Amino acid sequence: MSASEQEAREFAVAFTRFLDWVHGGGSARASHVVSLVGEHLGAHGLDRSVVTRALPPFEHVNLQLALEDWMQRTGRAAVVHGVSVPPHYAAIGLQQLLDGEGLPPVRLSAPPLVDLPSGPGRTHACLQSALVLVEDDRGNYVLMLRGPVPHQEPTLSLEVAGLAVADAQAVLAELDGLRAHHNVFRGHVLELGTSDSGELALAFAELPLTERDDVVLPETVLQRIERHTVDVAAHRDSLRAAGQHLKRGLLLFGPPGTGKTHTTRYVVGRMTGCTVLLLSGRSMHLIGAVAGLARQLQPTVVVLEDVDLVAEDRGFGPGANPVLFELLDAMDGAAADADLLFLLTTNRADLLEPALAARPGRVDVAVEIGLPDAEARRRLLELYSRGVPLRLAEADVAEVVERTDGVTAAFLKELIRRAVLESLTETAPLELVSADHVRAALSELLASGERITRVLLGITDEDGDPDERLGVEDGW
Ligand SMILES: Nc1ncnc2c1ncn2[C@@H]1O[C@H](COP(=O)(O)OP(=O)(O)OP(=O)(O)O)[C@@H](O)[C@H]1O
Ligand SMILES: [Mg+2]
Repeated sequence: MSASEQEAREFAVAFTRFLDWVHGGGSARASHVVSLVGEHLGAHGLDRSVVTRALPPFEHVNLQLALEDWMQRTGRAAVVHGVSVPPHYAAIGLQQLLDGEGLPPVRLSAPPLVDLPSGPGRTHACLQSALVLVEDDRGNYVLMLRGPVPHQEPTLSLEVAGLAVADAQAVLAELDGLRAHHNVFRGHVLELGTSDSGELALAFAELPLTERDDVVLPETVLQRIERHTVDVAAHRDSLRAAGQHLKRGLLLFGPPGTGKTHTTRYVVGRMTGCTVLLLSGRSMHLIGAVAGLARQLQPTVVVLEDVDLVAEDRGFGPGANPVLFELLDAMDGAAADADLLFLLTTNRADLLEPALAARPGRVDVAVEIGLPDAEARRRLLELYSRGVPLRLAEADVAEVVERTDGVTAAFLKELIRRAVLESLTETAPLELVSADHVRAALSELLASGERITRVLLGITDEDGDPDERLGVEDGW
């Protein structure tokens, strides 16, 4: 028998089994599911409306924890079944099971589970679709849970059948309360993005630990930032008692590579016990949903990086406001008594100015993060040569500091890395990084061929000629 004959035969066998499943066993099983639900509810329950609640997909894991808690409460018996339909059939709803008509070949199975993140490096197995037969002091009723399915079903849904509407709503409200109570996102650092279907998605993130000493900024600047962030959090109770609001917006602005992102990491690290929501440029249109989430998980820090990216973008629909206005409105719309810190960064404060002027009061404080002065450059050299066997005489340090006038903090970090590489090309493993290595690295970084590198490190002047401002001379 040829290979294709063999394949055709296998296909015929599989197809016959499938038809058998659909026409015979399939519908018998479907009626089994229908009668199971019917018997549990009784004629009275079958006549009642199905009440459905749609939830955002990221609530899936919270709903699972809520259900687990809720099902094992005393006085309640709950039996969980899986309901499976063959591939390529649309998912079924609870109403279809009550009617028992036009059903695809549905059958009972072990409940399918999806393993979802429930914390940094942790997961929890969650019901992907389930039928729960419940008996408690409300009577007999049925819940049906359906998780989001990529490219098919964007939302998570929970249905209640067999109860009067008010009772069904009360069940959903109990689960809402438990979802909030068990919320796995509270107190964590979360990166916000969108799912394939454009819904808000949350991912646990871990930020590198950034200590105060790692942030090289003028002391007054750092103190000012701390006053509006960490200090407000520390005095949260006294401020509240004195009727003062805790919601605050802080904008860090300045050239690229000067440490705006770095500073937000330090601040976030100090805000212990807060939920941190990280949002950048292109996901900023999610801000409406984010503000609600921030309130729910408070105290919350919402980090909005590179807000200038949306300064000129418009929202959807005719006459829609720029996304930046939506962002500012969402900041304002958040309840005044909520403990929320909005931390914004930009390197284009000029683009933001008109919007900030048109929507005053959203950003309380704007702090400029400038290029490092001589003192800061000296500290940065020390900071980034921690753990590096760097041997520089005071005169060498002074020279590097002088020659790097106008560069960013990121540049100095890169300078040390290049100097280490210079040394390694001579001797590996690393023994010593000398003034000559630093010199070679600096001339390489400042050479015209490295122009794009300097742009990447954020060193350009107004007319786009970095060399002029850097005072580059031959030989360095
Ligand atoms: N003030 C600083 N003190 C210590 N390290 C810094 C400082 N500024 C920058 N760095 C170092 O340079 C890296 C890049 O800086 P960062 O990403 O914070 O710049 P930025 O101001 O956010 O730039 P952009 O406007 O491009 O987003 C940081 O991860 C950090 O290692
Ligand atoms: Mg940044």
